[in-house]
Amino acid sequence: MSVPPIAQPLLTANAGATASIPQCDRALILDGVAHSMAEAGAVRPVLAPLSQRFSPGKFHVVGGPSGAGKTTLLSILSLSVRPTQGLVRWGSKDLTNLAPVDQSRWRRQHLGLIFQTSRLVSVMTVAEHIKLAAAIRGQTAAVAEGLALLTALGLAERLGQLPAQLSGGEKQRVALAQALCARPAILLADEPTAALDRSNAARVAETLHRFAHERGAIVICVSHDAVVMDAADDLLILEKA
Ligand SMILES: Nc1ncnc2c1ncn2[C@@H]1O[C@H](COP(=O)(O)OP(=O)(O)OP(=O)(O)O)[C@@H](O)[C@H]1O
Ligand SMILES: [Mg+2]
Repeated sequence: MSVPPIAQPLLTANAGATASIPQCDRALILDGVAHSMAEAGAVRPVLAPLSQRFSPGKFHVVGGPSGAGKTTLLSILSLSVRPTQGLVRWGSKDLTNLAPVDQSRWRRQHLGLIFQTSRLVSVMTVAEHIKLAAAIRGQTAAVAEGLALLTALGLAERLGQLPAQLSGGEKQRVALAQALCARPAILLADEPTAALDRSNAARVAETLHRFAHERGAIVICVSHDAVVMDAADDLLILEKA
């Protein structure tokens, strides 16, 4: 895959100290997971039964037609939706049956999310989004890393701007930098290049790929984009249930 060069290393703060140590040594596992929804008195399957292993240090891409259950799958992996069948495990730990308070703690400590639509806070500037993400995880050193990521993603001039002053694609890249600088062990991204031109989509694909490899993180990205699929270490195509 040919992508525009990124000026500086993805990970600046503490990179030397952590580059060879995987942050996450456990795979995220779907164990016979399926999901159905009740609709007008009938049960409608929305995710066909699936057993799958998502490994640390790998860039996983999930494709498939609209309505195949890709967003539903990410909701199940983020413990926002409880599957009607099967379990989500992290190594040997059953996440599906954790108490809600423990699920929230797990999410806060280990998970980064990039949604299909922008969820930036309207009154916070781009730089403030980065500072907040780093502070929530107690990773104040990660602010420099987040700002470096914004530069690598072509947003160095936008630090003082509010979301309303950004295009859809710029907002998606802010959300990406915000999620990565909190250094999650697991990153879930739902069509993060949907609003981007090919060159910026390639930068995002490269950034996600490098984050998985350099941090030992599990990165799972839903995408229809050929440039993202080309960068995948592992490709899972869902069929309609
Ligand atoms: N809250 C809900 N209530 C009822 N049905 C839902 C709900 N959320 C999703 N669905 C249905 O579940 C199926 C899978 O939806 P999902 O959003 O996971 O698909 P997707 O693969 O992400 O599609 P797209 O590529 O269009 O984003 C669809 O048929 C959808 O209509
Ligand atoms: Mg979707």
